[in-house]
Amino acid sequence: MKLHPVNRINGHLPLAGDKSISHRVALIAALASGYSRITNFSSAQDCASTLSCLNQLGVEIERSGNEVRIHGAKLRSPADPLDCGNSGTTMRILTGVLAGQNFSSKLVGDDSLSSRPMRRIIEPLELMGAKISSNDGKPPLLVEGSNDLRPISYKLPMASAQVKSAILFAALGTHGRTQVKESSLSRDHTERLFNGFGVNVITDHDLTVTLDGPAQLVGGDIRIPGDVSSAAYFIAAAMLLPNSTLTIDSVGLNPTRAEFLSVFRKWGANITIENLQTEHNEPVGTVVVKGGLNSIEIAQGDRRLDGAQIPALIDELPLLAVVGSQVAGGIEIRDAGELRHKESDRLRATAINLRKMGCEVEEYEDGLAIDGPTRLIGVPLESFGDHRIAMAFSVAALVADGPTEISGADCVDISFPEFFKLLDGLTAS
Ligand code: S3P
Repeated sequence: MKLHPVNRINGHLPLAGDKSISHRVALIAALASGYSRITNFSSAQDCASTLSCLNQLGVEIERSGNEVRIHGAKLRSPADPLDCGNSGTTMRILTGVLAGQNFSSKLVGDDSLSSRPMRRIIEPLELMGAKISSNDGKPPLLVEGSNDLRPISYKLPMASAQVKSAILFAALGTHGRTQVKESSLSRDHTERLFNGFGVNVITDHDLTVTLDGPAQLVGGDIRIPGDVSSAAYFIAAAMLLPNSTLTIDSVGLNPTRAEFLSVFRKWGANITIENLQTEHNEPVGTVVVKGGLNSIEIAQGDRRLDGAQIPALIDELPLLAVVGSQVAGGIEIRDAGELRHKESDRLRATAINLRKMGCEVEEYEDGLAIDGPTRLIGVPLESFGDHRIAMAFSVAALVADGPTEISGADCVDISFPEFFKLLDGLTAS
């Protein structure tokens, strides 16, 4: 994909449904009693992987564009391995579901997913009574489920919504109280959705999530809010390009996901939220961005991203690194070692690409220090097969001098297949 510098982003961004919420709603609807009609379902390839796995498990699914209808069913043993594709969320949360079923199943993934750590779900699910074998802690996974799992009290060794969710799904079939404690809050869509689909989940002030099993989900209709992580690339491009005006309606604004908006504001962006409402327990609103950064003095503390803030920024960190290269004084990201275990090693990939574009970057085991403001240079770059790297560096390309070519950029289909078409439609040189 060849990208050229542009002067502005202008117009209205139509946004497909949130990927994280779509995965969860599909799994919930499959396990629920009755029928669910889901509108604005994510167009991401990852969510199609979740639907096709559910289909293999005997769930009846009708899909017409972004509308998905699911008839809740008793899952049945799959004839073939369940292909999770590139999707860590599919593999990790589905394993939680399958841990509680009275049959065995095998989960496989592509090369990237096959190199990602799975001990984090294997350990708690085995404590609950499932048997899971793996390739030295990595996929493929062979899950021997049981409909007699035990409830557990478990402290997560890292903030992970996927692990928390796998445990909560497994807990639905247990008799007793399951508690999952996090040290900093990861995205809480599963908790909000369970409460909306008839299962009471309580999170207390010390971040302990409690679910009393057995508990039955009840199907219903839901509209998925727009994907704030997809919106982030357009918001960043609009704020970096003076004379831009961008409006995005119905964006999911869950605070465990939308923290990057506060960071961008602290870095001088003009971003406002309108029509803030609650839909199906999730905050949703219109995001309006006016281009150009205010030349404010940015406090040292606001140029450092670390600690409890990191889980709420996790998927936006490569993009924050790109934007950080334009911030006076530069930025630093720490406590983000989890980025090394995503679809690619995102600390490495970000450092390599930013350096190629002429930016001075220091790489740590758990983060990056990025010098700014840097005049970026258009050069050939790699996506590392990672959708978020491809999109973050497409934004870098828009503000660089000269054209940038990103190889393997079609991986954007994993979360945002419309990305390049929408970018083309909203940019003007
Ligand atoms: C996700 C959780 C996060 C995130 C991923 C999606 C989810 O991963 O990075 O893109 O939908 O639960 P972790 O749970 O590993 O932090």
